[in-house]
Amino acid sequence: MTKILAIETSCDETAAAVITDGTTIKSNIVASQIDLHAQYGGVFPEVASRAHAESISAVVEQAMAEAELTYDALDAIAVTQGPGLVGSLLVGINFAKGLALATGLPLLGINHLEGHIYSLWLAPDFSEAEFPLLALIVSGGHSELLVMRAHGVYQRIGGTIDDAAGEAFDKVGRLLGLPFPGGPAIERAAATGATAAYAFPRAKTDGRYDLSFSGLKTAVMRAATVQPSARRQSRRERGAEKRAELRADANINDLAAAFQDALTDALVATACRAASDFAAHAVYLAGGVSANQLLRRKLAAALAVPVRYPPLFLCTDNAAMIGAAACFRYRAGHRSPLDFEARASWRLSEDVYGD
Ligand code: KG4
Ligand code: ZN
Repeated sequence: MTKILAIETSCDETAAAVITDGTTIKSNIVASQIDLHAQYGGVFPEVASRAHAESISAVVEQAMAEAELTYDALDAIAVTQGPGLVGSLLVGINFAKGLALATGLPLLGINHLEGHIYSLWLAPDFSEAEFPLLALIVSGGHSELLVMRAHGVYQRIGGTIDDAAGEAFDKVGRLLGLPFPGGPAIERAAATGATAAYAFPRAKTDGRYDLSFSGLKTAVMRAATVQPSARRQSRRERGAEKRAELRADANINDLAAAFQDALTDALVATACRAASDFAAHAVYLAGGVSANQLLRRKLAAALAVPVRYPPLFLCTDNAAMIGAAACFRYRAGHRSPLDFEARASWRLSEDVYGD
């Protein structure tokens, strides 16, 4: 049985987990910083790394205690190497390096996006990977389409050319005055909104499998806020970074519903095209936006192949998914040198094991 302690600090969650055999969660601790960042309406990098440094030790200790394991029972230590915020990544990486040195355990640096894909392996009803599969990773930092042909073998076929899907949710949420993060807040508001009340564009891109969400965000802003020409502005107002003013007749729930409908339509159309072109046996949806119920329903209805997604608690960032990915890497013989560096950007390439 392979037992791995995994650590994840790429963004705003300090997380540690113990995973056995790449599929079983022994413990999964996530210390969220959402409350800390809510006042800024987004993740504040310096605040994030300081908060990671404050809680990492306790989070790892708790993960080991809940798994009821000692370090000598482990096979390896895994940590997110990138992509992510460098200051945040470094806290986890340095902690993991220290542990590896102290215990003599092998160390594995894991790609965060690969971790999101492997969150599917932790679903209670997961049986066997359906290669070749289409992975659609939609989170706050990424929107990527990848064809996965075997463990660790990826072909990136497309992704967003501007905002990530979750980033669009967060920006529109802020615009509409909803709490951070925008995704769950928009989903809640949309539940009682009329989708047809606003007509928003479904972006077309040059790339067959690419996505674009900034035009949609602008369309929502135009529909929802008072445009500068319609407003008498003082010079000081014009110069200041002023938050856009919502129109008196703006209906937040309708706007949320129409935005969510347009964004999910674009994702579904692109995923369907890719799944059929690459003869995927299944579509694996992962990342924070995969928690969205409308997206799940639409994909299931539109695809000719099954769509799978992680349990809700594994959609957003966690260390369990890093441990699951690490298990397959460990078995394939992959080890990272103790002096490996954080990678702020790191695309999942043809064969990450060979990197
Ligand atoms: O995967 P994640 O925790 O972080 C990154 O790796 O970026 O994803 C966070 C993102 C946020 O942008 C959040 O608004 C979005 O996932 N999100 C959702 C939902 N829950 C979280 N978006 C749409 N619908 C949701 N239910
Ligand atoms: Zn993530």
